[in-house]
Amino acid sequence: MEEFLDLLRNDHHSFDQGKLEDHIGNEPFTLLAKWLREAIEKQVSEPNAMSISTIGLDGFPHARIVYLKELLEDGPIFYTNYASDKGKSIEANPNIQALIFWPGLERQIRIMGTAEKVPEEMSDTYFQSRPWGSKIGAWASHQSEVLASREELEERVHELALKYPVEVPRPPHWGGYLLRPIQIEFWQGRRSRLHDRIVFELEEGSWKIYRKNP
Ligand SMILES: Cc1cc2nc3c(=O)[nH]c(=O)nc-3n(C[C@H](O)[C@H](O)[C@H](O)COP(=O)(O)O)c2cc1C
Repeated sequence: MEEFLDLLRNDHHSFDQGKLEDHIGNEPFTLLAKWLREAIEKQVSEPNAMSISTIGLDGFPHARIVYLKELLEDGPIFYTNYASDKGKSIEANPNIQALIFWPGLERQIRIMGTAEKVPEEMSDTYFQSRPWGSKIGAWASHQSEVLASREELEERVHELALKYPVEVPRPPHWGGYLLRPIQIEFWQGRRSRLHDRIVFELEEGSWKIYRKNP
């Protein structure tokens, strides 16, 4: 079975593009943007989905998928409910990790850093770009709280639709987080499991770059 999987990996390995070092600069954001662009161009499913792990108030890691919505010079942005479980965890401990996996490209990216709320105007702009139904949903969903029934949620949607038939303001508890990285690891699948792992680590304001054993 193991060998069969290895064969599979090698056989469809048309994406092996040689040493990763040939494609990196002296900071991680250019490569991050390049890989994201390639994932979109190659039409991988959900190219901007990433798992965000927070340290929960119970001391356990909690992971869930969110969408990477923008990539700024400082790092990636995702939008959520600040009062959700993840919001509460971040409030107590802003140290988080994002994980992106593109199976078709045999690529994985791990981004470790701190989460900080983006400026309100930025959340406003993004919120207003969303369809009306999503905006109502952001108000209706008391994200992560226990819901007695589906009907309770639908009733709230109904009431909010009457309240905001056209214009929907951004809920104050909804907005973006910037993940400000201190370490980013790029993983590229290579033959015979001799994968590339290149790590960028922020040290006193500049990026140290090193390779890790696969
Ligand atoms: C493909 C996908 C994309 C998602 N995107 C988001 C997102 O951008 N923001 C968000 O708050 N939740 C998103 N979710 C839902 C989260 O995974 C999660 O259920 C929700 O944020 C509540 O998490 P929490 O209770 O740990 O705070 C997405 C889920 C999936 C499967």
